[in-house]
Amino acid sequence: MKQIQKKKEIPFSVPYIDNRETAEVVKVLKGKWITTGDETKLFENKVKEYLEVPCAVATASGTAALEISLAVKGLDAGNEVLTTAYTFASTALAAVHLGAEPVFADIQENTFNIDPVKIEEFISTHYTLTHEGLKSKKSNKLLKGIIPVHFGGQSADMDAINAIARKNNLFVVEDAAHALGASYNGRKVGQTSNLVCFSFYSNKNITTGEGGMVVTQDADLEQKIRMYGLHGISKTAVERYKTGLPFYDIVYPGYKANLTDIQAALGVVQIQKLEQITHKRNRAAAWYDECLSGVEEIVTPIIRESNYSARHLYPILLNQKLKPHRDDIILRLRSHGIYSSVHFIPIYFHTFFKNFVKEIPSLPVTEDHFYREISLPLFPALKKGEVKYVCEVLKGIIVGLK
Ligand SMILES: Cc1ncc(COP(=O)(O)O)c(C=O)c1O
Repeated sequence: MKQIQKKKEIPFSVPYIDNRETAEVVKVLKGKWITTGDETKLFENKVKEYLEVPCAVATASGTAALEISLAVKGLDAGNEVLTTAYTFASTALAAVHLGAEPVFADIQENTFNIDPVKIEEFISTHYTLTHEGLKSKKSNKLLKGIIPVHFGGQSADMDAINAIARKNNLFVVEDAAHALGASYNGRKVGQTSNLVCFSFYSNKNITTGEGGMVVTQDADLEQKIRMYGLHGISKTAVERYKTGLPFYDIVYPGYKANLTDIQAALGVVQIQKLEQITHKRNRAAAWYDECLSGVEEIVTPIIRESNYSARHLYPILLNQKLKPHRDDIILRLRSHGIYSSVHFIPIYFHTFFKNFVKEIPSLPVTEDHFYREISLPLFPALKKGEVKYVCEVLKGIIVGLK
């Protein structure tokens, strides 16, 4: 009987998990404590060791890390916060949940990161400097901070962004959901006086299934972040258990956003693989660069000299001629078993934000890049032959569209 050839399937992303994670999770499950406890502390310590930072607080998600960070920075209903629209909804929703309004500056060509020049332009056009701070000419609200997103694993231009923040007395909370393992000007993303928020969602560079972390240099703020992540409670369950007395106080209007020891068990093993994971992601990105070089219809990702990217994504940009065919290309890739994605739908294209924001922005680079972008499969176990297959199929599709 003729053997039926199984169609080749290349998933978009696969977590890099093996028996070591399984064993660590089982160990926690067999122990007495499965919610936040010693394993979570161990995971926080491993992240601190890796990043060489003094403070880290594990959270239930990257979204929770952002929301807690903005809350401890005092963001509220009287405020606006400046960010990029080229991001996942969480970045902006975290501000919305606090009653604040996100406002958006455009991105740089090719890096997809918020553009410091556009930030300066936005501030000088929309705000007046008062004794209270930068006041919006339209809403009378105060601009409190900036949330840069390190798109695809490449740090935003933080020297310029930090300088703008210092000049205007704004806080900076970094959305580093994609960027654990990245560095900028020789410093690891996370090694800064800003609050930096990581995500350990299932497709992130290291994963705990769901999870996140806030890192900071400030020990007082760490305490506040920790309390905010657990109802604003003065004593954790472990502390109450250890001292024997069950009493506690609620000090802040906190969230229930703690990471469990079961999840942390995954993280403890994953963080030890991070360097290997980042290397493998960079290697796969280099294979793509090589296979797609000379294809004039495509711009491959541009990593600035100041950056070592964590290569969370491999985002290509189609040229203007192919732009109308973007969705068709995605579907054709899929018909060849190749799963791709688009990062990101601009925030203000979503129904909620269309209705929520006072004025729908017009961000030419954000919109142009959205319509031209395709994220190709990228994960540590991706093989060279698979990258070649994706590139050959993609090139074939492009030739067919000419
Ligand atoms: C840029 C960005 N920020 C924040 C998040 C939120 O992370 P989480 O899914 O862990 O809440 C994501 C997740 O996909 C993201 O891509």
